Amino acid sequence: MKEDISKVRLSYGRAISRRQFMNRFYELFMNSSPIVAHKLAATDIEKQQELLSQAVNMVILFPQGNKIATNAIKRIRESHHRDGLDIKPEYYSFWVDSLVMALAEHDPEFDNELEQAWRKVVQNAIDYIVEGY
Ligand code: HEM
Repeated sequence: MKEDISKVRLSYGRAISRRQFMNRFYELFMNSSPIVAHKLAATDIEKQQELLSQAVNMVILFPQGNKIATNAIKRIRESHHRDGLDIKPEYYSFWVDSLVMALAEHDPEFDNELEQAWRKVVQNAIDYIVEGY
């Protein structure tokens, strides 16, 4: 896992340095399902993109037990709960697949191995968030 996290951090650095990356992730996510579009209909896109770019960092740091990341993911687990934003466990695959697609377009070093590393790292935080649903 440690090696995967290092690879993923470098990959995220490469992707986020390209201006269009976050826009594209958000666009792919919005278009991934009518359910997602509906949930995010009233959302301020610019604000959400900023929050999301920080949230991805927290997702990456979460598996190693980083304290700030643990708190951040805990907060997301609470806000996305059935009594709050009500994000059903099955919606998270839209998020992951959109992220992977945006990475594939923006990280020039993206390949199959890196995709597996990303999916493994991200799944950790998602499992934790979904357990709290
Ligand atoms: C691991 C995956 C995800 C992460 C890290 C994440 C992160 C965040 C963060 C940081 C916020 C803003 C603060 C908050 O309300 O907690 C947020 C808001 C939100 N998220 Fe997520 N999210 C994820 C998955 C999803 C999914 C799958 C959906 C499904 C549609 C979703 C829908 C929303 C909505 C509707 C808001 C509120 C936006 C607003 O304030 O208008 N999220 N998310």
